Amino acid sequence: LFAGETDFLKGVVAMDGLPPADRLEVCFAGRSNVGKSSLINALTGRKGLARASNTPGRTQEINFFTLGDERYLVDLPGYGFANAPVKVVEKWQRLLKSYLAGRQNLRRAFVLIDARHGIKAVDEEILSLLDTTAVTFQAVLTKADKVKAVDRERVLTQVREALSKHPAAFPEIVLTSSEKGDGIDTLRTIIATLA
Ligand code: GTP
Ligand code: MG
Repeated sequence: LFAGETDFLKGVVAMDGLPPADRLEVCFAGRSNVGKSSLINALTGRKGLARASNTPGRTQEINFFTLGDERYLVDLPGYGFANAPVKVVEKWQRLLKSYLAGRQNLRRAFVLIDARHGIKAVDEEILSLLDTTAVTFQAVLTKADKVKAVDRERVLTQVREALSKHPAAFPEIVLTSSEKGDGIDTLRTIIATLA
């Protein structure tokens, strides 16, 4: 599946801009700067596909990428971005909620968590939203290359503990590094085998 054509389809700022729900879809959610766009680039093997940057809040739309004709990969706007105007943040949040609540072909949400920091209060908000919208979600730890083994174990324990309180959580946690390639094949297989 990942060997075929991947492309940027469109950026969406309102529900009526969503592409037809004619294929299975997965989305990537997470705090601003956690590495969503970088992960999509690593998965597709195309460096410049999703715009990654050091500027938090870079991805301000819901960005759709095609994986052949069979899947959409969806890059969601990052949350917990302190410097955005309140009005802008509220608009994103409304769009995010409508999307998560209303997208029938959305099969799984990958919630990205920085492997150095674990689950924060802002992450809990989205996990609860995913429970409410009954979207199965899976935790993906990012930037594994930046974490020491001892911290990694502590964070894994914290994340496991937090997930156990969420009915929509899928129990397996995927540890990734977009930089080094760790966990990328695992995640590709998960996405390719979703039915
Ligand atoms: P927003 O679009 O603002 O929500 O951010 P994002 O979640 O899409 O993050 P993005 O992919 O733009 O990455 C943010 C920063 O983290 C960039 O400087 C990336 O180079 C860096 N980064 C992402 N993934 C990794 C990783 O696996 N390892 C390391 N060391 N850095 C990473
Ligand atoms: Mg991004």
